[in-house]
Amino acid sequence: MFDLFLKGGHVATPGGIVAADLAVRRGRIAAIGALSGAAAEVIDITGLTVLPGVIDTQVHLREPGLEYKEDLATGTAAAALGGVTAVCEMPNTKPSTTTAEALADKLARAKGRAWVDHAFFLGAAAENIDELGRLERLPGCAGIKLFMGSSTGSLLVDDEQLLTRALANGRRRMAVHAEDEARLKERRGLVEGGAPPAMHPEWRDTRTAVLATERLLRLAKAAGRQIHVLHVSTAEEMTLLAEAKDFASVEVTPQHLTLAAPECYERLGTYAQMNPPIRGEEHRQALWRAVEQGVVDVIGSDHAPHSREEKAKPYPQSPSGMTGVQTLVPVMLDHVTAGRLSLERFVDLTSAGPARIYGLAGKGRIAVGYDADFTVVDLKARRRISNMWIASKCGWTPFDGMQVTGWPIATIIRGQVVMREDTLLGDPRGEPLRYWG
Ligand code: DOR
Repeated sequence: MFDLFLKGGHVATPGGIVAADLAVRRGRIAAIGALSGAAAEVIDITGLTVLPGVIDTQVHLREPGLEYKEDLATGTAAAALGGVTAVCEMPNTKPSTTTAEALADKLARAKGRAWVDHAFFLGAAAENIDELGRLERLPGCAGIKLFMGSSTGSLLVDDEQLLTRALANGRRRMAVHAEDEARLKERRGLVEGGAPPAMHPEWRDTRTAVLATERLLRLAKAAGRQIHVLHVSTAEEMTLLAEAKDFASVEVTPQHLTLAAPECYERLGTYAQMNPPIRGEEHRQALWRAVEQGVVDVIGSDHAPHSREEKAKPYPQSPSGMTGVQTLVPVMLDHVTAGRLSLERFVDLTSAGPARIYGLAGKGRIAVGYDADFTVVDLKARRRISNMWIASKCGWTPFDGMQVTGWPIATIIRGQVVMREDTLLGDPRGEPLRYWG
């Protein structure tokens, strides 16, 4: 007797996309193939495709301290509605997540309120630099996040000695925001006094990103430390990163793959403002080449909600960041439909990739014994993304009005159907992610 049967769909297995049924017992995948027998719940998914649960390894959920724009309940509800089964949350909350106590507090807040599985990054800071190796091993910790350039919040480690100490302390892959703080400060004058948002990629220019990534690669190589470079935005960095695959993994965001300057700034104003910035078409195309060539390991949304009031402030007082966790799957499936990447590569970037680079146990693969996490999609569904659909507290998406082909139809986490047909089901029962070693 199984708990759940998914009958009649196509399934993205490690061996390819095949017609198969799926059976679930006690939260895990029990069988894959032409199946018979009894199950407590049977769902006919004829015409739909089952992907391993999509894991978004870069989201900002703003709790504690900034709940006016998002919290763990609303941010994870947005994830489930968007077909995302697990999220890794960033430490630039208020206070920043830099201690064991702050991590325990986030895990406690998530219990019974998070709709999807989750883990929390600890932020590297001058005060905890020599404890990072201990902190990163705590249960529920996604790893260490380090900001080399200031973005939203106060976390920053740009001093060479501190960076070296941070990289020397610990073994897990460290996630890094690579923008050069000195150059950011030097060029800030460019956007003072009434500059338009289109100046954002001029202030935080390609050199700002390249300088930091170069430095990071040099220091990480010397330290023998694995790193993950978040939201890579330039052609030049992709060239450097292709030479560093032994120790550096790479993320791109759907925003950087979909939007381009100057058009996005003209159309969206400060709503197109994020760090590192959306750049010109030549960079967008270089990111796609890096996806094609395998240089990119992961797609993360960098879900970074800000309220409309905040975004209405004149640039550059307006904060950087866009929502993204709910739109990752439809936006990227639309790229699949357009032939920019295969469905297999999408799975590689959103399930297998996150599990491989961060060492997630039981996730990222449809295989017997793995967690029964599924993102069930309709590859033919034509839908329009709208602000109305967005569950994030701030209530907007940069993709409002975008017509897409490909939509998440159900989100299943450890065998529980959490979302079906744009509706949340049951109660929030997300659990902490488990890591190897
Ligand atoms: O645009 C961004 N917003 N980039 C970041 O690095 C931080 C994020 C936020 O938390 O708002």
